[in-house]
Amino acid sequence: MMIRSVVLVGAGNVAWSMGKALRTAGLDILQVVNRSLLGAEALGQELGVSTTCRAEEVVRGADLYLIMVRDDAISVVSQGLPFRDGLVVHTAGSVPMQILSAHQRHGVLYPLQTFSKSRLVDFSRVSLFVEGSTPEVCQDLCCFARQLSPMVYEAGTEQRQWLHLSAVWGANFVNHLWGLASDMLREHGLPTGALHLLMDECLRKAIESENPHRVQTGPAVRFDQQVLDKHLLLLSGDPRLEHLYRMLSQSIQTTAYDLQTKTS
Ligand SMILES: NC(=O)c1ccc[n+]([C@@H]2O[C@H](COP(=O)([O-])OP(=O)(O)OC[C@H]3O[C@@H](n4cnc5c(N)ncnc54)[C@H](OP(=O)(O)O)[C@@H]3O)[C@@H](O)[C@H]2O)c1
Repeated sequence: MMIRSVVLVGAGNVAWSMGKALRTAGLDILQVVNRSLLGAEALGQELGVSTTCRAEEVVRGADLYLIMVRDDAISVVSQGLPFRDGLVVHTAGSVPMQILSAHQRHGVLYPLQTFSKSRLVDFSRVSLFVEGSTPEVCQDLCCFARQLSPMVYEAGTEQRQWLHLSAVWGANFVNHLWGLASDMLREHGLPTGALHLLMDECLRKAIESENPHRVQTGPAVRFDQQVLDKHLLLLSGDPRLEHLYRMLSQSIQTTAYDLQTKTS
């Protein structure tokens, strides 16, 4: 089945970017449904579609109902939909597809990107991971997803949970470290942009390398104990940062050692 018409359920970070992407792709957005009418109306107005906050007013017969609400609300919101014969899909990385099993046809469309209302994301640069309750649903969702992005993959619930976890390492933790580095610069009178070119080059190098471990640089991978000790001394007034520094340096060294023994 070709998915052409969509009802958006939710009006948060993902719903805003998704709504705009669907409109750009020329898909038919029938309605925005949301817990608060105010949130629904803001997005509905942007997209020029009708809105509701009442489950009984949800339009019937859409090809797809896309649930984009907080993870812990997906179950209750999906069960509140006043039908069981529509295709109902959520967009969460760490929520099993099974949570939607009250609906005959269900699935997942997980966009592996970071979304905020204040910064709309171009979906053609988002990898989309699809799971379907049947092979047909999976195929329909893949075709639908390809209208938004060329990067569409299938991934089951367990794989998607690992994907989500890897995104926490590859994006959330890295961003946290960028934040800590920026605090350090600010506290010591240095320009906060001082690291931008370095961050940019590291990211490019990691992406282009076949294995980011192999392009690791810095005192830990060089096993330069003198520099490590100097850094630990600088951090001695801050047990949290000292602990993090030790753990990360040890992890870099263990990985470097394993890599070396594997290749020698
Ligand atoms: N943000 C990301 O970077 C990202 C990336 C990939 C996937 N996802 C997934 O996409 C989904 C939406 O994420 P988001 O960041 O867009 O979330 P969000 O902005 O926090 O979503 C808020 C939405 O959830 C609704 N909501 C919250 N609690 C509710 C409840 N108890 N009952 C009914 N509705 C409730 C809100 O309604 P009100 O307007 O009434 O408050 C609003 O529509 C999540 O499953 C998330 O895991 C997010």
